[in-house]
Amino acid sequence: MLKIGVLASGRGSNFQAIIDAVENKKLKASVEILITDNLSAFAIERAKKHNIKHIFINLKDFATKDEFFKRIANEMKSCGVELVILAGFMRIVRKPLIDAFPHRIMNIHPALLPSFPGLHGQKQALDYGVKISGCTVHFVDEGMDTGPVIIQAAVPVLPGDTEDTLSERILVFEHKIYPEAVMLFSEGRLEIKGNIVRIKDHPQVSSNIVNPPNR
Ligand code: GAR
Repeated sequence: MLKIGVLASGRGSNFQAIIDAVENKKLKASVEILITDNLSAFAIERAKKHNIKHIFINLKDFATKDEFFKRIANEMKSCGVELVILAGFMRIVRKPLIDAFPHRIMNIHPALLPSFPGLHGQKQALDYGVKISGCTVHFVDEGMDTGPVIIQAAVPVLPGDTEDTLSERILVFEHKIYPEAVMLFSEGRLEIKGNIVRIKDHPQVSSNIVNPPNR
């Protein structure tokens, strides 16, 4: 069974989506540890509720960011973690963690990458005036929200949308595609060649479009 480690900085609703998929047995995996860089992250409450080991690692305790990420890698390894999930982790991951988990770190971003990376992807999309946005699950490399794309879901940007309404619409799909991507990984169905991820034997998502549910 796939052993997952989660990194989160805040609310942790994507962390919850992974927990739920595991508990509902949609995902054959176990969440071994939650690491936060923020002592007041609500994600910690979720870990407590589900009896998941959780630790806080303070960047301020380290002389360099590389040392901070080395410590995170060591904690993940000591828990036997095989896949690291970034769930609203608001830092750019550095080499010591990436090298410890090559093509074994995933991130979710609230925009259709490579458009609108970084903070406030939803606001960036609104300000630009695009008519479609969405979310992306991708493998993590050293860039900011770069790395091979695994699954994307598209949602419309509607007249009158605010950052909150668009974020809410996107979040519904984040909670759907993140467990899906982890499931595909756990089943050994993600094949990476260069920057391209091929999904083996999965016609429904290989188009990288998730259709909105019927209203
Ligand atoms: C999510 O919308 C996630 O896509 C975004 O932060 C939010 C975290 O929510 N991540 C990024 O913007 C990464 N660049 P959550 O804590 O409820 O999962």
